[in-house]
Amino acid sequence: MQSGIYSIPGINNEPVCAESCVFVILGGTGDLSRRKLLPALFQIYKAGLIPRPVHIVGAAGSELSHEEYRDMAARALDEFGELEDGDTEDKDEFIASIFYSHLDFNDAATFRNLAALLDRMQTTEGASAKRILYLATPPSFYAKIVRHLQSAGLSESKEERWPRIVVEKPFGNDLESAQELNKHILDVFDEKQVFRIDHYLGKETVQNILVLRFANGHFEPTWNRRYIDHVQITVAESIGIGDRGRYYEEAGVLRDMLQNHILQVLSLVAMEPPDSFHAESIRDEKVKVLRSIRPIKPEDIKTHIVRAQYGPGTQNDEEVKGYLQEENVASNSMTETYLALKVHIENWRWSGVPFYIRSGKRLPKRVSEVAIQYREVPHMLFRDVVVEPPSPSALILRIQPDEGVSMIFSTKHPGVGMDIRNQQMTFKYYEAYGDTAPEAYERLLLDVVVGDATLFPRTDGVISSWKFVDQIAEGWSKQRIKSIPQYEPGSWGPDEAMEMMAADGRKWRRP
Ligand code: BG6
Repeated sequence: MQSGIYSIPGINNEPVCAESCVFVILGGTGDLSRRKLLPALFQIYKAGLIPRPVHIVGAAGSELSHEEYRDMAARALDEFGELEDGDTEDKDEFIASIFYSHLDFNDAATFRNLAALLDRMQTTEGASAKRILYLATPPSFYAKIVRHLQSAGLSESKEERWPRIVVEKPFGNDLESAQELNKHILDVFDEKQVFRIDHYLGKETVQNILVLRFANGHFEPTWNRRYIDHVQITVAESIGIGDRGRYYEEAGVLRDMLQNHILQVLSLVAMEPPDSFHAESIRDEKVKVLRSIRPIKPEDIKTHIVRAQYGPGTQNDEEVKGYLQEENVASNSMTETYLALKVHIENWRWSGVPFYIRSGKRLPKRVSEVAIQYREVPHMLFRDVVVEPPSPSALILRIQPDEGVSMIFSTKHPGVGMDIRNQQMTFKYYEAYGDTAPEAYERLLLDVVVGDATLFPRTDGVISSWKFVDQIAEGWSKQRIKSIPQYEPGSWGPDEAMEMMAADGRKWRRP
């Protein structure tokens, strides 16, 4: 990773540099904290991207001493921190700057204790008055926590002091709950202080969508209905739902992946050029896309959406449970672990260009990509002489793994005849740049420190996505069916998804 204090261009291009601050992790003993947040904080600390001293305060339900929490954090770094030889000194320093405060989400006094610890640390540790309050807790506690933060004075900005609040997905379960949550948060914090994490936006390759489109002269002129036949977005995972049955039953792919990650990617692919590279300009354009998505009405569900569940079977030579047999899943559950849908964006650029989206668990591999499928050439010169007409060109943005960009285009196969074949030209990140990309959480945490909200969904974007998703859920609830199709684990999903494409004379790509 690059070194030097992290900065972004501010107004008049004066750099805005990361300032020393305190990270307060509410839910500091949980999985997210141990697997992602502490390791990401260590990496940006080690790389010198944030000024020292850095202080971290874990706050959670267990009664732990500072030392006990430090031990837990050290174990988390050993397990998930991808430590390297020579990290010992940095690690010891980092661990020594960690503190703990017992927090009961139902007890306002514990929030006052947290506030008192933070104030004390300003004197005893030289800790900053700038605080990042990271809610790594179950979302059902957000509203309560925000109220307690306010009454403990932790939401107050004055002089040198600013708080910023970071919330994890899911941001609500539907439009109504998202609106309610927004109201709770925005009653206490300013929109500018709120950072809603969507870790997909922290991925280098997702950010590269903007660079590819707007830093190259030759893609943008053809990035529209005249040249593009359709777009395919695939977000596939080979894992099942693991031990997240309780959460997943309420979420399904619709709320777990489509409402957030996938619609965010879609909006970056489809947005108009923003007037500047500033957060609000980019967020404005993304929201316009989300607002332009044609709602899928109940009568369109059959032709526009396929939902399914993985059945029991064998994947990579291993017996795996079906979704209905997973822990905490109802035996008659209708929750989808696979979703394929056809989306239309109703604006001048995209009119008539379908965006096909698919996402699911227990698919053959973990792969996320956006495929821009170009139209056929207007006149096929070689029509009468080729053995087989070539497929039209495509541009593949590979989000993960093997991050990169591929162009698929036609070439003449050497020989006397006119044999035209598709070839693929690929740029791979690691070949060009080595393994330098920061983890999504590292980048996003740094952006919170400098207060850059470009990579964080804004209230209106979240609301628009929920409107779209809610309408689908409503359509499903009106369907008179008692079960949904099942697919073989390790397959590319149910036949119905292939049929949906075939009905349009198209095929899913094999990533
Ligand atoms: C999370 C979802 O937001 O994203 C998970 O809740 C999913 O179900 C994960 O597995 C995928 O993220 P990534 O970065 O592994 O593609």
